[in-house]
Amino acid sequence: MEKPLTQNIGADLKPASLADYEESGGYKAMKKALKEMTPEDVQKQVKDSNLRGRGGAGFSTGMKWGFVPMGENAPKQKYLVANADEMEPGTFKDRYIMEGDPHELLEGMILAAYAIEAPTAYIFLRWAYKKSEEALRNAIKEAHNKNYLGKNILGSGFDLELYVHVSAGRYMCGEETGLLNSLEGKRANPRAKPPFPQACGLWGKPTIVQNVETLANVPHIIAHGAEWYKNLSKTDDGGTKLYGVSGRVKNPGMWELPMGTSAREIIYEHAGGMHDGLDLKGFLPGGASTDFLTPDHLDIPLDFDSVTKAGSRMGTGTMIILDDRTCPVAMMANLEHFFAQESCGWCTPCREGLSWCAKILKAIEAGQGQMEDLDILKQHCEQLGPGNTFCALAPGAVEPLQSALKYFREDFERHIKEGKCPYK
Ligand SMILES: Cc1cc2nc3c(=O)[nH]c(=O)nc-3n(C[C@H](O)[C@H](O)[C@H](O)COP(=O)(O)O)c2cc1C
Ligand code: SF4
Repeated sequence: MEKPLTQNIGADLKPASLADYEESGGYKAMKKALKEMTPEDVQKQVKDSNLRGRGGAGFSTGMKWGFVPMGENAPKQKYLVANADEMEPGTFKDRYIMEGDPHELLEGMILAAYAIEAPTAYIFLRWAYKKSEEALRNAIKEAHNKNYLGKNILGSGFDLELYVHVSAGRYMCGEETGLLNSLEGKRANPRAKPPFPQACGLWGKPTIVQNVETLANVPHIIAHGAEWYKNLSKTDDGGTKLYGVSGRVKNPGMWELPMGTSAREIIYEHAGGMHDGLDLKGFLPGGASTDFLTPDHLDIPLDFDSVTKAGSRMGTGTMIILDDRTCPVAMMANLEHFFAQESCGWCTPCREGLSWCAKILKAIEAGQGQMEDLDILKQHCEQLGPGNTFCALAPGAVEPLQSALKYFREDFERHIKEGKCPYK
């Protein structure tokens, strides 16, 4: 099975040097694109490959690039930003690429910047990712020395400067318009859309914000073609995917597998199954801000459309496992406490509603809840759902809660009836 994204990443996560990267075919795609392809050709290949964004929403990458104004009348200054904020609880995939194969991200960024004719790019990096920062800064130096970055790259006439920006370390900074405000030195509140960043982004200029894993796929698409990329997948969404598992499984971790691999294969083969004596009760398929799925969903292919059809979201593809001896109410109290803390406070339903949910959940967990609390929680989930708040933080925050109320309602009821946590 081909693993283009992780082929250079060893178990020790030692960053592949430029020499290592080139030995495995690295930077060939960049040379090919700069010599033989127009920016529009690069955009078309990526669109044809069915690459969908790996940051959570799964929007078509080629289509997104297509919204950037191109040609003579387009602004000369445009930006590309790699979103390396990675603050979603349970998600640890982008770090793996940046620490293990930083040139893969760099080459993806050079190709993406070329495709949208952007002369400036940033990596917006989670502050805690010190190893990634070191690996990326070294890789940028190496790439500059070979004129893979800088002025007139390899005589092509294309210029690109690439900077690492260490973020403030808030979940909200990962939301693309909050990210842009933060990069401009402002508070990371989200911006109204439209206008979309593709037309009016960083400092009012056309900007593409793209997840690290998404960008790391681009060199492979350009090197081998859209058809090859599509065929890596088991379903219609192109490529491979970095799937991860955390929770009480025998072998938590991350694996590059064909897009559309089932949760059963990921949990029971790659993650080694549940710890002895534990059963699977549910799982959040794509990080903490997705709806629970249950053992009945183990055989659905994990791709964007199939997971949506099952009532959840693929999100980041890094799942969190709930076993039958872990209290789902405590898990929800913990998660909603996180989301309430990370609310930027811009809109009232999220600012007030999430902290109210966290408070109620804490009380239920401690055996001090009332049956009416369950209706209040359900109402909050509806009021904080899509379309009712300024950004997607609040709707994401209530996804695990609304599905926990649906699938594990008797756990909530037992806490209230027995006046204590039955798991302790
Ligand atoms: C609260 C919040 C946090 C987010 N955090 C991240 C993040 O850390 N990394 C990321 O790539 N996308 C994150 N996103 C999604 C981004 O807004 C954006 O959709 C994504 O970077 C686009 O890249 P893609 O098209 O490659 O998926 C977040 C969204 C929300 C609402
Ligand atoms: S939903 Fe929450 S995080 Fe998003 S803008 Fe409103 S208050 Fe801020």
